[in-house]
Amino acid sequence: MKKIAILTSGGDCSGMNATIRAVVRTAIATGMEVVGIQKGFAGMVNNWMQPLTVRSVSGIVQRGGTMLKSARCPEMHELDTQKKVVETLKRAGIEGVILLGGDGSLRGAYALHQLGVRIMAIPASIDNDIAYTDMSLGVDTALNNIRYAVDALKDTASSHDRAFVVETMGRNCGYLAVVSAIACGAEFALIPETPFDLDSICIALRKRFNEGRDNSIIMVAEGAGKAEKIAADIKDRIGFETRVMVLGHYQRGGSPTTFDRLLGARFGVAAFERLVAGNSGEMVGLSCGGLAFTQLHELQNAGRKQIDAVVLKLARLLVN
Ligand code: F6P
Repeated sequence: MKKIAILTSGGDCSGMNATIRAVVRTAIATGMEVVGIQKGFAGMVNNWMQPLTVRSVSGIVQRGGTMLKSARCPEMHELDTQKKVVETLKRAGIEGVILLGGDGSLRGAYALHQLGVRIMAIPASIDNDIAYTDMSLGVDTALNNIRYAVDALKDTASSHDRAFVVETMGRNCGYLAVVSAIACGAEFALIPETPFDLDSICIALRKRFNEGRDNSIIMVAEGAGKAEKIAADIKDRIGFETRVMVLGHYQRGGSPTTFDRLLGARFGVAAFERLVAGNSGEMVGLSCGGLAFTQLHELQNAGRKQIDAVVLKLARLLVN
């Protein structure tokens, strides 16, 4: 193998740059050429590629986002587009690909693997909704971003005796909301995985304030409802005025935590080594602190990742 490519696809996350750096430095040390594909699969379709050197990846380890840029590319669902990509890679002399992305991007990686592209995938998404890995890249940084915001919010909430509804990202997965609720000492966590009853939440809220508690934080995962609507419903039910904070894309950015930098380095180096060893169609993941490799076809059949039972137990004990 003389030339490989790397790309970041779908929603960006912190730690992508650390991973790119690890792959480039490791590959170049073995005398291999590395090409960076711009803007995810769109760059594969349109041949947006640039050679990467040790110099070009210097000074990026501490930066959030991705130096290669990222994009969503719905056309990758089409076989014609996939075949076009295979041709582009062949013409560019690329013998192996390392892809960083979320579940949609991993489906694209599997499609390319089936068409004969040698490819290794790295789970990168703040949602932590990818099966066969305890953590995806970027989750830890997102959790720290949320913690920072909620800690600050509690100061102003206490000063005004207020309740806040805080909306996290995560698509259909409540991981960010429930873990943040535990870490920040929030009073409620509304997640799509577990049913909740707004009437009992309102009663508990009222009771808290009657007891003299001066703030309440209600974490809501975007998959469980809109913070604005929940705040309005609370006001309708008990006349209690709440404020809303939608954390949005802020969660995805910022300097990666040490955990994400290290995870990116571990994932990147392992993906490269597996590719060179002749493996393809695999995802590298984290399992009980070690690295684990899963066939992408298993991932396609895995269904939605469940939130860890230990996390749910902690939430039951410590939140509400
Ligand atoms: O998958 C990552 C994610 O940030 C989700 O949590 C969120 O629902 C979505 O991407 C937002 O997508 P976009 O950046 O395209 O608005």
